[in-house]
Amino acid sequence: MIISYSKIIEGASFSPLSQTEVSYQAQQLICLDDSGYIAHVIEPSDSDYASVKQTAQANDTLTTLRPNQYLLPGFIDLHVHAPQWPNAGLALDRPLNEWLDTYTFPLEAKYQDLDFAKSVYNNLVQELLANGTTTVLYFGTIHNAANLELAKACIQHGQRGFIGKVAMDNPDQTPDYYQDASAQVAVDQTEQFIQQLGELNQTTNLKQTPVITPRFVPSCTPDSLRGLGDLARKYDLPVQSHCSESDWESGYALEHYHMRDAEVLDHYGLLTDKAVMAHGTKLTDHDYQLFKKQGVAVAHCPISNVYFGNAVLPVKRVLAHQVKIGLGTDISGGYSPSLYQNMRQAVMSSRMLQDGVDNQLPADKRGVADSAISVKTAFYLATRGGAESLHLQTGKIAEGYLADMQVVSLQNDFQTKTSDNIFEKLMYQTSKADIDQVYVQGERVK
Ligand code: GUN
Ligand code: FE
Repeated sequence: MIISYSKIIEGASFSPLSQTEVSYQAQQLICLDDSGYIAHVIEPSDSDYASVKQTAQANDTLTTLRPNQYLLPGFIDLHVHAPQWPNAGLALDRPLNEWLDTYTFPLEAKYQDLDFAKSVYNNLVQELLANGTTTVLYFGTIHNAANLELAKACIQHGQRGFIGKVAMDNPDQTPDYYQDASAQVAVDQTEQFIQQLGELNQTTNLKQTPVITPRFVPSCTPDSLRGLGDLARKYDLPVQSHCSESDWESGYALEHYHMRDAEVLDHYGLLTDKAVMAHGTKLTDHDYQLFKKQGVAVAHCPISNVYFGNAVLPVKRVLAHQVKIGLGTDISGGYSPSLYQNMRQAVMSSRMLQDGVDNQLPADKRGVADSAISVKTAFYLATRGGAESLHLQTGKIAEGYLADMQVVSLQNDFQTKTSDNIFEKLMYQTSKADIDQVYVQGERVK
């Protein structure tokens, strides 16, 4: 019997095997079914290789990669502030709270203008896809009409979005021109968005997921945190926030709640096994244990952390505590929409953590031993780490996984001998222009 697949890609691939290993296949047929999954991976040594390939050629469903092209899983960005895209690269020299008040809140307030929202969100979604990012966990703004435009842009351009209406009702920490009028409003609008997205999803195969989104502890009142925790339980939905992202932010929880901010979020039912907490540079071993127990994931945003984090997230330590962890760009706390750039920064920051940075100290006192991560670990974070954090069957080129993939060209192909050489070059040198094809749930979107 000859099965016919909706698409077949023939070529070489890299896929994460574990937190430290990557698998390489020089040639395979990656066979997609019509629901957007990888139904079969056929090796040249398999008896049906030639016949399946021939059938695909006859049906015009075969894409053959060039010798310098490689298939990789699509990337999962666990932390993007969609409305901040126009500010990418701006004011990164300011402290977090001043950056929020002076640059971020005034921009986010503009999204009551739907034309503005549409133009920014269409541009951002296409930019992220063009960079190989197939799934994104987004913060929107307080405005549901604009948040729906973000969801529509994801559907139109073919990206899997997880989208949160931002809740921020604490009048002491939010400007009066940009805040939820009360805890009740923050919670009601969140519930309204869940329903609106449910209706929109009936029009599309590529589902967009609503996310419970308290901005962070300082922006919310105890009543909104409690109400949002209740919604997370009622609808069994993902939760996202910022947690222990800087000295100022973690200090705020200690001062106002006499608890660590992770404990505040847990107290209100917001640390679930569908929760993704951005940054975490100031998390303690005690917090990691709480995250592990509750199944909470960390969105590591290494570029943003250089500016706002006050410390380097010890990725190896987080992994050793068996806490789920993926990567985020944190647009616009991070300037780059590329997870490639963030993988590189994750590796570089981890090496600086290991070696230390104060040249006046002796080498053995300068850093934190055994902190450096490899680029293979960074690749794991951008793929399987993100997928596990969002409970998605993706981030891997393998049977039964969603066909979320990117095809990348290796340009600087002179001294490459081993598959490890090729992999390292792809990780360190790929730019947007080298990403030739992107697939989400089997649909070609670039
Ligand atoms: N903490 C609260 N809001 C934000 C934000 O928009 N960006 C970052 N990086 N941190 C935050
Ligand atoms: Fe953020």
